[in-house]
Amino acid sequence: MLFDSHAHYDDEKFQDDRDDIIKKAYEEGVSYILNAASDIDTSLTSMDLAQKFDFVYAAVGVHPHSASTMDESTIARITEMVRSPKVVAIGEIGLDYYYDYSPKDVQKYWFKRQLELAIELSMPVIIHDRDAHEDIINIMKESKISQVGGVMHCFSGSREMAKILLDMGFFLSFGGPVTFKNAKKAIDVLQYVPMDRMLIETDSPYLSPEPLRGKRNDSRNVRLVAEKIAEIKGLDFETIASETLNNARRLFGI
Ligand code: NI
Repeated sequence: MLFDSHAHYDDEKFQDDRDDIIKKAYEEGVSYILNAASDIDTSLTSMDLAQKFDFVYAAVGVHPHSASTMDESTIARITEMVRSPKVVAIGEIGLDYYYDYSPKDVQKYWFKRQLELAIELSMPVIIHDRDAHEDIINIMKESKISQVGGVMHCFSGSREMAKILLDMGFFLSFGGPVTFKNAKKAIDVLQYVPMDRMLIETDSPYLSPEPLRGKRNDSRNVRLVAEKIAEIKGLDFETIASETLNNARRLFGI
């Protein structure tokens, strides 16, 4: 039993076989999938998928890439969506200074606003951080987001950054990059993060683990991530699978 805590089945790369892949993942031992949204359209798709499949849950929210499309009516729509019982988190939200698709100030403004909303609605958050560690941490602290908690998705920071997030009560989620040949930092962090604060994910269709790197990813490959973590932590696969599943259920109230 595995919990893929972050996937994007709304993505057009799944347009021809979305339902098949989701069903296959379930048949092959992925007992839960959380579909993370990137904007209002994908939030709606995320909810549709959660409606269709018992074991799929939805996150709703706007990714930093699309921050400049937001206004207060977007916040009102997210608020509305959260009423659905299958919506279990706000995300993914955050900052992305690598691509900079939306201006930094705009990204920061809507990141803060969505954190505020998560607190108001008592929902955990799924955070995306690319090359924005310092601003992310500062905003998280100012917003007092530890009240509701959440997860740093596809964690790529250092041990120091991990400590700050763990101290704030956050979970850290690991995906395909832990299997990459240059994963030195991730391996160091994995040795440090306690088992009860770790989640696993695929970020499908992106970030396929080795030996599938570069191919379209899907939730079945979360197994490869769990196997790699088991190897790094010197624990057996079943322990990693069940602990990360329990952690995700606890965080998302499933
Ligand atoms: Ni994602």
